[in-house]
Order: sequence, then C-alpha cells, then structure tokens
Amino acid sequence: MPFPATRLRRLRRSGSLRELAREVRLGAPDLVCPVFIDEAGGGARIESMPGLARVAPRDVAAEAGEILGLGIRAVMLFGLPSSKDAAGSAAHAEDGVVQRAIREIRAAHGDSLAIMADTCLCQYTDTGHCGIAGEGGRIDNDASLEALSRVAVSQARAGADVVSPSAMMDGQVAAIRAALDDAGLVDAAIMSHSAKHASSFYAPFRDAASCAPQFGDRLTYQVPYTSAHAPMQEVAADIDEGVDIVMIKPALAYLDIIAETRRRFDVPVAAYSVSGEYALVKAAAERGMVDGAAVATEMLHAIKRAGAGIIVTYFAKEAAAAMRGAQ
Ligand code: PBG
Repeated sequence: MPFPATRLRRLRRSGSLRELAREVRLGAPDLVCPVFIDEAGGGARIESMPGLARVAPRDVAAEAGEILGLGIRAVMLFGLPSSKDAAGSAAHAEDGVVQRAIREIRAAHGDSLAIMADTCLCQYTDTGHCGIAGEGGRIDNDASLEALSRVAVSQARAGADVVSPSAMMDGQVAAIRAALDDAGLVDAAIMSHSAKHASSFYAPFRDAASCAPQFGDRLTYQVPYTSAHAPMQEVAADIDEGVDIVMIKPALAYLDIIAETRRRFDVPVAAYSVSGEYALVKAAAERGMVDGAAVATEMLHAIKRAGAGIIVTYFAKEAAAAMRGAQ
C-alpha cells in the first residue's frame, strides 16, 4: 500500500509509539566485560584505550563486583603474565594470573557472574604468537593444540564457566572438548573465536596486552577478511567439534558475517567488538567529532540487530551504567 495510505512516520510520532515498535532491546546482561589482569601490578591506564586500565590481581574481585553491580553478568579475563617463554607455559600454570583471578572472582561472587577466560598463548609466548612456533618460525598447529588444551583444562579446573579459544588453530575446539571431558570437566562450555579475522582493528589490544607478534603476522591462522565463505567454514567446523557458542570478531565491519551466521546455524552467536572499534569512537569523541556514548549505543544495537545475542565489548561498563541511568 503506497503513500498516502502508508505513512511510516505514524509509529515514530512519539516516544511511546517508538518504544512499542522497537524490535531490538539491549540490556546489560547481553554484554560481556573484558578485564585485563596484570600480574606485575596493574592500575596503569591503557594509553591506546582511553578510559580503561589494567587491573592488579588484588583488585580483581572488587572490579568484578563493580561490573556485577552495573547489571553485567559475564566477564572475559585476559592475563598479562610477569614472564613469557617459547612454550607460553605461564598460560596453564595452576597459580597463573588468570587461574588465580578465576578463583578469587568465584569466591567473592559465586555463580552470579559467568566467568569466561581467554584461551590463547600470545600474551604468554615470547614470540607473541597464538600458537607454538616450530621450524622456521612457522606456527605448529598440532603442537599448539596440546598447549591450548592444557590452558583450557587449567582454566576450567580453576572454575571458569566458559573457556574461549582465540588462537585460530584448526581443530582447537575438538582438542579442548576432548581434554575437558577427559579431565571430567564436562560442564565447562566453549565459546570459540570461530571466525576471528586477521584484522588491523586489534592494534590497541596488542598494546594493552603486550602480545604483538615479534616476527611475521597472524595471516597464516586468522581468517582473511576477503572471503565470506571462509568464516562460515570456520563456524561449521567449530559446531562439528562441539562448540557451545560461536563468535564472530571483529563486530562492526563484520555485521554481514554475524547476520549470515545467525541465519545459517542454530547455535548461540556472540560478537566481539574489538579494541580498535572502541578506540575509534573514543578518539573521535575526545576531539568533539561525535557523541561517543551515543555512537557506542548505536553500534551495540546494530551488532545485536545483526544477530549477536552476546556482545563482548569494552563499552560494557559505560553502556551498562548509561542504561541504568536511563531506566
Ligand atoms: C589474541 C587476541 C587478540 C585479541 C583478542 N585475543 C589480538 C590478536 O589476535 O592479535 C584482540 C581483541 C581486541 O582487539 O579487542 N589471542
């Protein structure tokens, strides 16, 4: 029915009508708040990510309490160990920085906060790579699977609800699932960075977590952004391997991939709005070019509208605080 019978502005006339017609509602429980835990002390502001700071191990439980107090129900823990080696062995140490943080958060907050742990090696290897470097500096897929499985088991043993492999090694979900099951950790869930693209949007994170590759790049393992099929193959492989939640990363420049994943697969879909997405908004807002809070809110709604029911975002705390204030 064309105009004038149809007038799309009818349902936009007032706030109450706009609320009625609204389809996407964002809430603090949709968000996962990343936390960087710095074994060496913490507290230092992250230059590349204005408004964020690394947290000292002794402050982790309090930080988690603050996050919970804003209505957010999940954290994603990243560790900055005080020592690195070729094998990334601090990543699976029983008293590793993340393992200790998991225990402290659990002890302080019980099950009220879902604890997710990043399962990767790049902050822990002296090469800065997500896997183990073999001959000629090539990243050895199968040797890396063993290491990643040990990391996941140690995190789940410490009490993580969800382990989140981000190394983009082939077969990492199958290897981790088998290792968790062998260890009797059958209820530990896996949220895989299924389609983690080789992206320039990660630069601020590499500064925050000091995990930049010391040679080469991540192009031999992360997904190229030049194909719409490769990420679907990655998602399908993870589902075959027993993943619980698939994740698309980054988010904003990959809304088509999120939407396609939602359409094709019957599995919970997460999106990771990465450090560069955060930094772009913050930098423009600092210069008075955009209203940062409004842009962030719009981005998060777009990511949810595209099909992600779970959003990992550095805006988590400020977005949750704003939502609380708006109620
Ligand atoms: C490494 C890892 C990265 C991110 C999360 N885990 C960086 C990378 O792959 O180089 C990026 C997250 C972000 O930019 O917010 N396993």
